[in-house]
Amino acid sequence: MPFKQGKVVDSFSVKGKGGKKTQVIFRYPKKSDAKACLKMVNSIRREAEYLGKRKMETLKSERKWLKGRLSEMRQGKGFVVFVGIDGHLVGDSSVLPTSYDASEHVGTFGIMLKEKFTGFGIGSRLAKKVLELAKKETKLKMIESTHFSKNRRSTALHKKLGFKQYGRFPKECKLRQGGYDDAIYLYKQIKRL
Ligand SMILES: CC(C)(COP(=O)(O)OP(=O)(O)OC[C@H]1O[C@@H](n2cnc3c(N)ncnc32)[C@H](O)[C@@H]1OP(=O)(O)O)[C@@H](O)C(=O)NCCC(=O)NCCS
Repeated sequence: MPFKQGKVVDSFSVKGKGGKKTQVIFRYPKKSDAKACLKMVNSIRREAEYLGKRKMETLKSERKWLKGRLSEMRQGKGFVVFVGIDGHLVGDSSVLPTSYDASEHVGTFGIMLKEKFTGFGIGSRLAKKVLELAKKETKLKMIESTHFSKNRRSTALHKKLGFKQYGRFPKECKLRQGGYDDAIYLYKQIKRL
């Protein structure tokens, strides 16, 4: 199906802290998202312990990033899904093409949520949706992923999704509070090769 900017791909409610019902939507990005996306990515990078990227983006870099992703989505090379709660972007997940043309069948998985909305099952539902879309809407056949070994939620998430670990890079990740953590490398085949 042709890619449509802003299309809602899932909508549901979760019970948040104190049993409060929270309405969640998953949707594709649109060109006008740059400012909201900048706010979201920078706030998550400030608070998340186990993300590989920590530097702050600017409106210029975010506009460029968004333009690139929208172009990939139109070509069926990969995609991004945003998480919206109460009219704000609170996370995203993506499957993006690698830079190697010998590996055009491989996509790289990524996911992040604002800390406030973690632990309610949103990440699991989002990741499942993204893998389902990768299978249906792209030509990708294998998905690769990586996470800090200390990231317990990410470890549980990848296991549940059926990712297989193929490597462990000792002390690849520097921790904010000092010291190092190993990086775990995983893959999942989503189509026959
Ligand atoms: C990693 C992340 C996407 C997971 O999404 P989430 O909505 O928090 O996770 P879910 O609530 O769907 O739970 C996923 C699994 O983690 C487990 N989990 C949740 N909170 C946990 C915690 N505090 N400690 C250990 N496991 C936990 C859940 O039990 C579930 O496993 P199960 O279904 O086998 O029981 C999210 O926590 C996040 O974005 N964290 C910050 C950024 C980050 O680390 N991104 C990942 C980079 S690879």
